Amino acid sequence: MNVLVFASRKGGSGKSTLAAHLASYIANPSRPTLLIDNDPQGSLSLWHKIRNQEYLGLKHNVRNIAEALREAKREGYEWVLVDTPPNKSSIVAEAIKQATLVIIPARASLFDIAALQDTVALAREHRKPYAAVINAAPAKHGDTEAHVVADARGALNALQVPVWAGQITHRPELTLSLATGEGAREYDAGSQGADEIGRLWTALERSLNTIHNTYKKAGTSRAA
Ligand SMILES: Nc1ncnc2c1ncn2[C@@H]1O[C@H](COP(=O)(O)OP(=O)(O)OP(=O)(O)O)[C@@H](O)[C@H]1O
Ligand SMILES: [Mg+2]
Repeated sequence: MNVLVFASRKGGSGKSTLAAHLASYIANPSRPTLLIDNDPQGSLSLWHKIRNQEYLGLKHNVRNIAEALREAKREGYEWVLVDTPPNKSSIVAEAIKQATLVIIPARASLFDIAALQDTVALAREHRKPYAAVINAAPAKHGDTEAHVVADARGALNALQVPVWAGQITHRPELTLSLATGEGAREYDAGSQGADEIGRLWTALERSLNTIHNTYKKAGTSRAA
């Protein structure tokens, strides 16, 4: 089972946005997917309610996440995406403990990079693979990323935080689509937002394959 946990102590970094868009990419009739909305704000629950789609399940404010994941496995879910609140509470720590991969969205700003370090520390403490994703970034000019993005990437590299090589740009379709319960591709398959989410999904699939192969080689079942 793949458990993707979206975590960052920084509010508004894009946890719920990325979780929703990726969930809409992953979920299909042959790949039942579960969202666990463990942020009391309930952003994903609201999106899911508007969406109303059978093969994307939802549980919210789950107290015992380990038990919820065992139940999800019994129910046939292979993919679970967990949204968490912007703090370092036990809710976040418990989710990270169960993660196959922790995704840490970060805006390209000093404040985001500073705040992300607490979440990185939690992932490291629980020995979980994690990666930062630069979100809501200014658009690239051709192949050249904005100075603030390059600076943020430099700061993350200096902190030895793995960061996705791409970026999710600040784009209206990534917000507008959520208001109709859709993901970027469903809203406008030809949009740049859909393209970037697709690239992120491809990179995540690759990372998850590596994670599973690593655990297989090590003879453990942590990522099973
Ligand atoms: N790439 C993007 N393009 C445009 N708008 C974005 C993007 N990412 C996030 N936003 C907007 O920024 C706001 C915060 O995003 P979101 O709610 O996903 O962050 P969050 O990390 O889940 O916040 P919280 O910590 O409060 O749960 C939302 O209004 C969302 O629509
Ligand atoms: Mg949120």
